[in-house]
Amino acid sequence: KKILFVTSEAHPFIKTGGLADVSGSLPKALAALSQDIKIIMPYYQATKTFADIGYRCSLRVDNRDVNILETLMPDSQVTVWLIDCPEFYQQPGNPYVDAQGNPWFNNAERFALLCRIAVEVAMNRAYLDWKADIVHCNDWQTGLAPALLSLEDNRPATVFTIHNMAYQGLFPTTVLTALNLPGQLWHPEGLEFHDMLSFIKGGLVYADRITTVSPTYALEIQTALYGYGLEGLLIHRSPDLVGIINGIDTTLWNPETDTYIPQHYNADSLDDKQHNKAELQKRMGLPVDSQIPVLGLIGRLVEQKGIDLIIDCLPELLAMPVQFVLLGSGDKSFEQRLQNLMHLYPDKLAITLGYNEELAHLIEAGADIFLMPSRFEPCGLNQMYSQRYGTIPIVRKTGGLADTVVDSIPENIVNHTATGIVFNDANASALLEAIKRTLLLYRLPDAWTNMQKNAMHSDFSWQQSAERYLDLYQNIQP
Ligand code: ADP
Ligand code: GLC
Repeated sequence: KKILFVTSEAHPFIKTGGLADVSGSLPKALAALSQDIKIIMPYYQATKTFADIGYRCSLRVDNRDVNILETLMPDSQVTVWLIDCPEFYQQPGNPYVDAQGNPWFNNAERFALLCRIAVEVAMNRAYLDWKADIVHCNDWQTGLAPALLSLEDNRPATVFTIHNMAYQGLFPTTVLTALNLPGQLWHPEGLEFHDMLSFIKGGLVYADRITTVSPTYALEIQTALYGYGLEGLLIHRSPDLVGIINGIDTTLWNPETDTYIPQHYNADSLDDKQHNKAELQKRMGLPVDSQIPVLGLIGRLVEQKGIDLIIDCLPELLAMPVQFVLLGSGDKSFEQRLQNLMHLYPDKLAITLGYNEELAHLIEAGADIFLMPSRFEPCGLNQMYSQRYGTIPIVRKTGGLADTVVDSIPENIVNHTATGIVFNDANASALLEAIKRTLLLYRLPDAWTNMQKNAMHSDFSWQQSAERYLDLYQNIQP
């Protein structure tokens, strides 16, 4: 099949979160299954370039001239088409916000252009001599593409993947003039949502199939708590909705070969993990001590990730013999509160604000325990990276966390399936209980090592999930 994979970010070109990890690894897995897959995304000022970016063609859409550049996904044969439109994408900032952290004032137009170009390319109207069989869109930024394609004759089939229902691309109707969308799409069963333009509805209403990134999240988003007013539509579309768990890039995230960490190791040489722990402690300015359990957290500092639960239980947590390292950036109020706490516990709490790929790998390798108390988590990747690095995750039972971590209840410890600690309630005391339960296990070396080995032997590769996408592609009629 010829698949056009439409996304707003892809590792290693540009990344703000898990969408980039998936966009950088699922296409490779599909190419390995002999699919002709091309990625299309904007060419931002912050896009990292690797060898050989070439010009392919120019086209004019909505009175705007854009160039399409072509490059390869590193270490693969996957073609990447970069949409070059300097007035929209060549400013300092990330794909969604400017250098001050405010959403780009013209986000509706910026991502409408991504969708328009994806349609032209998919329909073979862009001088690339390639017509898609499948257009696979990801998150709200790409939602208008299935909507626009639904109006085309002889169109490719469309798949829309929900990575996060909390981000919907809602804009006031004043943007409609600039977007110049076909009138047939503008009604409450179309792109309209409570007098706003909803990009995500373009995907949820018009795509032939909808997927999301874990089976549990597929059920959760059909309830009011996780559906944000779109649960009715999702229930209506449920015959076409499926949850497929994300895989991870097992080459990038491999403690035996990871170039970011000082000491390689595997499930049979877990003692070597200690070198990484010492290095992490040194790097974060904490006392080097192999006995004290180190807890780690990496992520966007937003409510989704349960950062407030962590802040609430920190005083009690840090009264125990533990160290806690945190890497992240996000809400300024969370950043401020965390920094204030760091000054109170300089020997126990170390915080690095910002985005740092190398440090993320060192934390996965050096920490003993990884915290992910998310309020909701469509899939989550760090709990899988952690398991691969023998770093035991503590997760809340939601979304992909519930689907990828096996709780260390006695039965699972005995039959060697336990891989982490799972708790239920989204509050600080439930989190603290889970941490205490983990610390007890940490003091039982045999049980702990067993759990680390179970985790490291779990299969989180893309193999099975890529086959499920392929199966889906093969069974859609547009
Ligand atoms: P989400 O997409 O909701 O942010 P995921 O768990 O799916 O959550 O993916 C987050 C990805 O971004 C992971 O690869 C994680 O390591 C990475 N990441 C998040 N924050 C940072 C940071 N501050 N520095 C480095 N990597 C980060
Ligand atoms: C979203 C979700 C995260 C998921 C990622 C990749 O950002 O928040 O849970 O892992 O997308 O699908």
